[in-house]
Amino acid sequence: MSVHTQSSRVTTATIRQMAATGDKITMLTSYDFTLASLVDEAGIDMFLVGDSASNVVCGNATTLPITLDEMIFLTKGVVRAAKHALVVSDMPFGSYQVSEEQAVASAIRMLKESGCDAVKLEGGASVLPAVRHMIEAGVPVMGHIGLTPQSVHQFGGYGLRAKEQAEADQLIADAIELAKAGCFSIVMEKIPAALAAKVTEAVAPYHCATIGIGAGNGTNGQVLVLHDMLGLNMSFKPKFLRRFAELGEAVKTAVGDYITAVKEGSFPNESESF
Ligand code: KIV
Repeated sequence: MSVHTQSSRVTTATIRQMAATGDKITMLTSYDFTLASLVDEAGIDMFLVGDSASNVVCGNATTLPITLDEMIFLTKGVVRAAKHALVVSDMPFGSYQVSEEQAVASAIRMLKESGCDAVKLEGGASVLPAVRHMIEAGVPVMGHIGLTPQSVHQFGGYGLRAKEQAEADQLIADAIELAKAGCFSIVMEKIPAALAAKVTEAVAPYHCATIGIGAGNGTNGQVLVLHDMLGLNMSFKPKFLRRFAELGEAVKTAVGDYITAVKEGSFPNESESF
């Protein structure tokens, strides 16, 4: 049985409770008011205003260039749309790595100026002091481990993480520390399914929910990039992605039909004119 109703706002407590009761958690990225309104009305549990906006919205090759100001701007639109879902916004590269003070100041700006409910940041042991300070300051934090795209140049690509035992052990240790520090949830990206299931078990005593992307079915919930699962990003076809629609084809057909109608003079017709 679901632990929330459509009329109530999802909170971090709801997410922790859903993990505890085995009610699967749904999360999608969103970056604008119009699409976010549809996603919210469809009943999603959580929005992620991901720094994938750097790729999806801005056309950059990586997530690195997007700024805190730009993330705040995008998050405001999603917050206005969210009548039901919890809104988590990504802390962009460079907004939390310099010092704990910088991390807290950036997170407070994000909460105050965008109106989001929580922030997400990438990393394990290296970001723990920042995570502790942010949580002490009253900022709800979602962790993100495994493939952390802000470290793409360090990793040398976007391949599967934690295939080797040493990295898998470190990942489990990082997850436990993040959960102990008070993260209400942790995203695990592109790691073996068995490892993700093991982490989910390991953080359960701390009432921390796990959300997977390319991490199999043993997590408490799933997240996907909205534009990818809607088929708007037509060339992106990783193994973990399921396309639930082919909106890229639909957009191209609609735009083609519009161009034809304008060129042949059939749009606008009489009923579409004043
Ligand atoms: O920015 C993003 O979209 C993300 C998801 C891939 C988890 O961090």
